[in-house]
Amino acid sequence: MADESIRSGVIGHPITHSRSPLIHGNWIAEYGIDGAYNAYDVSPADLSGFLRRVRGGELAGCNVTIPHKEAMLEHIDELTDTAEAIGAVNTIWREADRLLGDNTDAYGFLANLDHAAPGWDENPRCAVVLGAGGAALAVLHGLLSRGFADIRIANRTAARAERLAARFGGSCHAMDWAREEALYSDADFVVNTTSLTMGNETDQQVWSGLDHVAEGATVTDIVYSPLQTSLLKAAQRRDLPTVDGLGMLLHQAVPSFERWFGTRPEVTPGLRRRVEEDLAAGH
Ligand code: ATR
Repeated sequence: MADESIRSGVIGHPITHSRSPLIHGNWIAEYGIDGAYNAYDVSPADLSGFLRRVRGGELAGCNVTIPHKEAMLEHIDELTDTAEAIGAVNTIWREADRLLGDNTDAYGFLANLDHAAPGWDENPRCAVVLGAGGAALAVLHGLLSRGFADIRIANRTAARAERLAARFGGSCHAMDWAREEALYSDADFVVNTTSLTMGNETDQQVWSGLDHVAEGATVTDIVYSPLQTSLLKAAQRRDLPTVDGLGMLLHQAVPSFERWFGTRPEVTPGLRRRVEEDLAAGH
């Protein structure tokens, strides 16, 4: 008898820290789907071989994480407009023997804010984006789609911020990371996309730039480990509304899951709790 089970997963190198199997596995069980979602450690040298397996029908598709998100562009037959604009792919699926690619990170970034801080973009004036690496691409795409009039990109290495500003154009421009007053002045929204707040960060970061933001500015970090980063704590000390990064991880998984398994899953408090417990256990 043919195996009708739908297979998907996440590919990366390394892949051991991915929470995607937990998230998708939770939904597979919750919705009673005959399917599986696994983690695949795929090195850059093995990428083409793995994609042949997807083309051949062994998997319905997969998520893509570091270091393949940008490299995937050259393996895909058709990109969504979003993946094309961001310049990176995090979700692939198969139609006949063709591979299609999308990027759901901008969706996840925006959906997290829409759920956790409704109205955050009601008056989309000035946003500060810290960082100019891969994670900044989706964030910039998302902020542009919400019509922010003045998007300031600041990065430790200024040239990378300048390259991103030139690439996205519109209301994006690069600013000096070190000139805090000018950078944060009257900002309505601040997002950290750097790895500066990740992992064992001690709370040595002062984030004094937050003294200059507009009253009630929303502050978010796409880092979710730790959940309460030094940036979020500094914002809370100033009574600014904050949104942690875990919701972005959960929400970006929604359109991918729907693509392979045909059910649009819900991000529930129970799911969030399970992932929080897993993070706390340090898996
Ligand atoms: P990702 O794909 O996760 O964005 P990345 O491309 O390696 O990863 O980018 C990491 C980001 O964190 C960059 O903006 C990096 O700044 P540089 O371009 O100057 O390297 C930023 N970053 C990492 N460590 C930092 C630190 N200690 N201080 C400031 N920025 C830091």
